[in-house]
Amino acid sequence: MHPMLNIAIRAARSAGKVIMQATEQLDKVETNQKGSNDLVTSIDIAAEEAIIAVIKKSYPDHGFICEESGEQGNAQSGYQWIIDPLDGTTNFIKGIPHFCVSIALKVNGKTEQAVVFDPVRDELFTATRGQGSQFNSYRTRVTKAKDLKGTVIGTGFPFKVKHYKETYLSIFSDMYDDVADMRRAGSAALDLAYVAAGRLDGFFEIGLKPWDTAAGELLVKEAGGIVTDFTGGHGYVSSGNIVVGNPKVVKAILAKMRPHLTPALSR
Ligand code: IPD
Ligand code: CA
Ligand code: CA
Repeated sequence: MHPMLNIAIRAARSAGKVIMQATEQLDKVETNQKGSNDLVTSIDIAAEEAIIAVIKKSYPDHGFICEESGEQGNAQSGYQWIIDPLDGTTNFIKGIPHFCVSIALKVNGKTEQAVVFDPVRDELFTATRGQGSQFNSYRTRVTKAKDLKGTVIGTGFPFKVKHYKETYLSIFSDMYDDVADMRRAGSAALDLAYVAAGRLDGFFEIGLKPWDTAAGELLVKEAGGIVTDFTGGHGYVSSGNIVVGNPKVVKAILAKMRPHLTPALSR
């Protein structure tokens, strides 16, 4: 295993410990509002601190892009860790046991290492660029679906950007006709990991952030999947409008989206 992946796993497990301890006394967790339906808790912050401490111990000169503390460290080093310390904060606050820690490492702008860790189920999803995607150390592949028939597609509702409601629901409605079922589980990083592990056939969401997707994107690609924006392009890197799955599933999802796309969703 690559030494930097090893450190990423150690960091994710230490954040997982912080999070799981907190689930035993949820009433003691402090919650603040960052934006519309966008919450941060004392545990998001403590978990992020735990991750940074582990990584800094081994790599004191690296840079960081963290959901809660922003950019820090040495961005010029060529090494940048992209961290979502607790993806699925709404689930966590409500006591719904579905959330994760997401850590990716970019080297000179390319994602090289990825970890998504579910501390509730002790499930570890990892990838190193060029070396495939793993679930608890076993190789994973995206599913072989040829179209939407029989598929289960994950999604996220645009709950932080509710002005997309109408467009989102028309896309959902068209897609719903062809799939077997849809899932909205509440953690985008885990959704991406589930696509990489073949548990979901595909996934789409509007307006995700780099820390939601950085690790999951490498997991999906290393599992043989593709990642696009809603027009099949690369705009998702800045827009966060993301579609993933095997190439045939992504093609089928994009076809369902096409009639509904507004300019804001076409990038
Ligand atoms: C959120 C979760 C959720 C997705 C949101 C994300 P957070 O991340 O991944 O599933 O629908 O778009 O912002 O705020 O819990 O880290
Ligand atoms: Ca997140
Ligand atoms: Ca988060």
